[in-house]
Order: sequence, then C-alpha cells, then structure tokens
Amino acid sequence: MLTKLLLLSSFPLATIAESPCSVPLSTRTSWQEAVVSQTISSHSVTRGSLTFSPAGTISNPSGTYGGHVFPTQILATSTCDCLSGSTCTYAGPPPKFSNPSVEGPCINTYSAKSSSALVTIGCMPPSPVQYWSYQTNLFSTYTSENEVLFPEVSPLPTINHLTMGAEPGTPYVIVTTGDKDLADDITEALVNAGAPPQSIHLDGISHPSLKVDGQTPDVLEAVVRINNKDFPPDLTAYIEASPTEQLALFLDPIDPPTEVNLLPASPLRKRSVEPDPGAPDYSSSLDSLSSLISKKLASSGYVMSYSGEMPESMDFGYDDADTNACCIDGYMESDTYWHSMVHFSTSDCLYRAHGAYSDPSGIWNDGNLSFVGNTLSVDYDVIGEKADVQSYSTFSCSEDNEVLIGYSCDDQCSEDVCKVSPLSAIPYLEGCISIPSNDKLSVEFGCSDDGVAVERSFLGSDCTGIKISEKSVETCNNSTSHFEGELWAGGIAKDTTVSFVIGVRTNKLGYSSFHNVYLPDFSSYNDPDDQANFGEESLEGSAEQWGWEEDDDLFVAEFSRECTGDEKFCKEINVASGDTLIVMSRQYLDTRTLTGPDKDDIAPHRVLIFDKKQ
Ligand SMILES: *[C@@H]1O[C@H](CO)[C@@H](O)[C@H](O)[C@H]1NC(C)=O
Ligand SMILES: *[C@@H]1O[C@H](CO)[C@@H](O)[C@H](O)[C@H]1NC(C)=O
Ligand SMILES: *[C@@H]1O[C@H](CO)[C@@H](O)[C@H](O)[C@H]1NC(C)=O
Repeated sequence: MLTKLLLLSSFPLATIAESPCSVPLSTRTSWQEAVVSQTISSHSVTRGSLTFSPAGTISNPSGTYGGHVFPTQILATSTCDCLSGSTCTYAGPPPKFSNPSVEGPCINTYSAKSSSALVTIGCMPPSPVQYWSYQTNLFSTYTSENEVLFPEVSPLPTINHLTMGAEPGTPYVIVTTGDKDLADDITEALVNAGAPPQSIHLDGISHPSLKVDGQTPDVLEAVVRINNKDFPPDLTAYIEASPTEQLALFLDPIDPPTEVNLLPASPLRKRSVEPDPGAPDYSSSLDSLSSLISKKLASSGYVMSYSGEMPESMDFGYDDADTNACCIDGYMESDTYWHSMVHFSTSDCLYRAHGAYSDPSGIWNDGNLSFVGNTLSVDYDVIGEKADVQSYSTFSCSEDNEVLIGYSCDDQCSEDVCKVSPLSAIPYLEGCISIPSNDKLSVEFGCSDDGVAVERSFLGSDCTGIKISEKSVETCNNSTSHFEGELWAGGIAKDTTVSFVIGVRTNKLGYSSFHNVYLPDFSSYNDPDDQANFGEESLEGSAEQWGWEEDDDLFVAEFSRECTGDEKFCKEINVASGDTLIVMSRQYLDTRTLTGPDKDDIAPHRVLIFDKKQ
C-alpha cells in the first residue's frame, strides 16, 4: 500500500521532468542520426544544440532568445577575426551585446553557403506560449574584403508557432539551407526515420538581399524567440533543458558544388489588414480616458504636464525594400533614432518607444540625449520651459574587473545610491581611446590589481607605448545638464512626476498574441526579478479605476515613484529627479496576418506625465 502511494505521488513529477516532449529524446536523436547518415559523404557534420538563455535575461522582459551552440566554432577563424575587429574595419557600429557570455560575433554564427545546412530537431514548449519563432538573421555583411557592417536584421520571414500550426510539446524540424536538393534529401531521411512530414519546415536562404557563397559570404545567425505573459515551471524547465533536449546539426559541404538548385526564401507575410469597420475609434477613446485620469489626479494637486504618442521604432519588415533601406544597405547616415537599437528585431513585432534616448553608437543626433515621441500637449506653466539639473557619476570595478560607470548618484556618490548605466554589460569605453586632439597620447580605462577603476595614459596612439600615468577615477564626478522643451517635458523625471502609459489591449482584440509595456531600468535590465514590466493580461481591468466603463479594450499602466492608482497596475520605479524616462512596448504577431501588427492599424499607445505645480 505504501509503495503504491509513493509511486502515485511521484508519477506526475517524473513525467514533467523526463518528457517535456511528446516524442522521446532517443527517437529525435535517431532522426538526427538518419540525417547524418544521409549527408556524411558530402558534408562535414557538427552536432550541437539550440540553447536558450534564462527568461528575462536578454534585454527582453517576458521573453528569451535561443541560439545554436556547437562544441567547436562554426565560423572560420579568419571571419571571426574580422568580426572581432582585428583584421577588418567596421562600416557601421558593431552590436552592443546585452549578454556577452551568450551573444558574440563568433557565437551562434555561420557563413552563408548555399549548400550548407543548419538542422534543428527540437520540440515546441510544453504548454501554449504567446509567441515562439525561428528566424534566420543577417548578422554581418562585408561591404568590401576587409570592411564589415552588422545589420542584425532579417529580410526573411519567421517560422512561428502559428505558421507551423504546431501543438505544444510536439517535435519540429527546421532545415535552413540554400540548396533545394539537400533540403529534399534531409526531408526524405527524416521521414524515413519516422519524423512526421508536417513537422518539417524549410527555411530557404536564397534571397536577393543575402550574399551567399563567394569569397566573402554574409554571416548568418538563427534567433529563436519565446515571449509569454509568464514563465511557469514547465516553461522554465523547457528552457533549462534546451542544451540537451533541442538538437542541432551543422552540415558543411566538403566540396561545395559549383551549381546549386537554389531553395528560395519564402516571401514576407503582409502586415496590413483591411480596416475592421466595426472597430471603435480608439483614438477618441484614449482622449476620453486621458481626461478621466486628469480629472481624478487633479483632486490630489496633479496637472498633466505632457501627453504624447509612442511612435513605432525598429520600423521595417513591411516589404523587402524597407529592410534594405533601413539596415542592409548601410546605416551611417541615420536620421532615425532607432537605427542603433536594431538588434535582432523582427518583423513579427511592432516595437514602440517614447522618452529620452541617446544613441550609444553616437550617430543619431551626435549621440546627444534627445527626445522620441509625438507630442500631443505640453503645459509649461506646471514644469517650466527649461531646467539645469545637477547629476553625479562614479566609476567602479566589477568582480570580473570590468569598469562600470554608475549614474543617478547622490552628491556623495554613495555606493547604494549610484545606479549602473546602460553600458553596464560591457566595460565602459572598452579598449584604447586615442585622443583626437593629440595623436601622441592615448588612454584606456581599466581596473588596477586591487580593483580600483583607473584611467591609464600612454605615449602614442594605441595604448602600447610608455605609460605616463595611472590615476584612480573613482571620484564623485559632477556635471550639470540643461534640459528644455519636449525633452524636459516628456523625457525627464521632475520632483513630483508620475507617469502613465495608456493604450489598446491588442491581445484581447486579436491584433497581437503577445503584448507588454515596460520601463527599462538599465540597472536591472537583465534581472528577471526586478523589471518594471506589464504583460497585457496583467492590466485587465486597469482602466476601470479611472472611470472608463465603455469597454474592457483599454489599459492604464502607471510607472511612478509613488503610485497614485491601484498598486496592482503600477510599478514603483527608482528614479531621481533629473533621470531620464523611457518606456517601451512590444506587440508580437497579429493573429490575422501571422506577422507583426501594422503600425497604422490601431491607435498608438500614449504617455501621460503629471506634475504638481511648483
Ligand atoms: C550635440 O551636442 C553638442 C554639444 O552640446 C552640440 O555642439 C551639437 O550640435 C549637438 N548635435 C546635435 C545633432 O544636436
Ligand atoms: C565626469 O563627467 C563628465 C560629464 O558627465 C564626463 O564627460 C567625464 O568623462 C567624467 N569624467 C570622469 C573622470 O569621471
Ligand atoms: C563638482 O566637482 C568639482 C570638481 O570636480 C568641485 O569643485 C565642486 O564642488 C563639485 N560640485 C558639487 C555641487 O558637488
């Protein structure tokens, strides 16, 4: 009796832990080995996995990315050296990795050869997720033999959970190749080994925007995304088990054939839809909702100092041409703020952002802090037209001896007050800086043996000459910033600021399958437990408290130092007066078009800022 009880109680646990997939790993491994047998005479074979990062750790709250990991580097060393900057120059800014231990120029990447193939034999997440997709990205392209550009976008459509029609927990195979005959051979081997034909998906890479084969082919990287309103234990276990459960093969031709029967890329899915004649006018609904919020806050002395719309960012993927225009043809002459933010964005997503932004690559507006947003109203009587704000910063060394810069410090630069900057994931001012006005001097930031952040100066322009000084930079550094106009009104926290994002619940209406709104606090950007992030579902009922009773189609998200509304729908944020405010939103996958929502299809989110009259 006792034994039986024990067995019963341990049974469900064992099932979850041992089979996240409806087809056992041993069976999927046999499919993989059938592909190996089929191709081994013509291709060298490397076995690896599709590995995910923990949810919320890669610049994407409520999401994660997976990439292909092989025990040996797939990219040729000469290409890798080029991408790392030792043998090539950069025609446009190289990516700033949000997590350099799992992302990098030579991790997950491979050269685009028609007759190579990347074969992923995986399993869908064990329970339904709001978004899952696989997309081959153009990581880098040569503009000449020794100059390289990093578009990090894809001219190819995704293969996503809706286009696949795959049930949770079922196996899938994705074959990325430019060679139709090879794709057919692999498919035949898989089917003969028992893989269900409907689970096999081809990802053709032959596309006019991709340079395949030749001396300097493009470098590609497949990005697999998962976004969901939450990450319950079974999904977390799926992510953790990915290095062993999600199989990958890289097949490299031993003798690349001169003639290849090309496998063309699928066309992009159209984002636009016929306007829904029955849809309410959400723009006027948002006007009314914003008046309701204003009225309610007026009773506690708040006045609306700013309102504006959240414009779309990373805005492409509507047709073949716009991806080229934005990114692949070069992005040095950028007048669009989001260019430097393009980092594996996908046309399955409509990204929006609003607030104060500075371009880390220094291209847009010379890297000056500037305003992003479509202003609807400003009340300068409340906040003044301009202000000088004193701020403090300090340098420090991380445990890994990387130099970090802390901002938002108090006037003593106390350790518990300073927040680490957006560049925390990479060393501050990495590498050697030659001083432009003095070609005989160069400096680098580093950490001394006892872990103090130092600035070292050298004779000569490459930090290899005689060291002329090494001084600590761990002092409390102050500076005054001047803000005015829209940047001041819509992008900077004042003493009394409370802020809101309001908008339409597009998941509820089927215009998206995943939707979140968040305020990226860059000090905890990659910390899943500490993010000011709302999934749309958690905002159900959030407009009601402000008196909106027409429908349940709208949401109100508050981001404030002290919540004015229901705490359930408010994230307390740790900003000082003078700190920048930026809010972002992601909307993945219109369920009608199976790609990203159309930016013109529905009224954009709005940002409302309230202050107390001084
Ligand atoms: C950026 O700021 C600098 C220094 O204030 C200024 O000289 C420059 O004109 C600004 N650039 C742009 C594009 O606003
Ligand atoms: C001090 O702050 C100024 C302005 O923010 C900055 O340009 C400078 O690099 C900082 N220097 C040090 C050593 O902290
Ligand atoms: C700012 O720094 C300078 C020296 O770098 C110092 O003389 C001054 O007192 C500081 N100001 C404030 C308000 O901390």
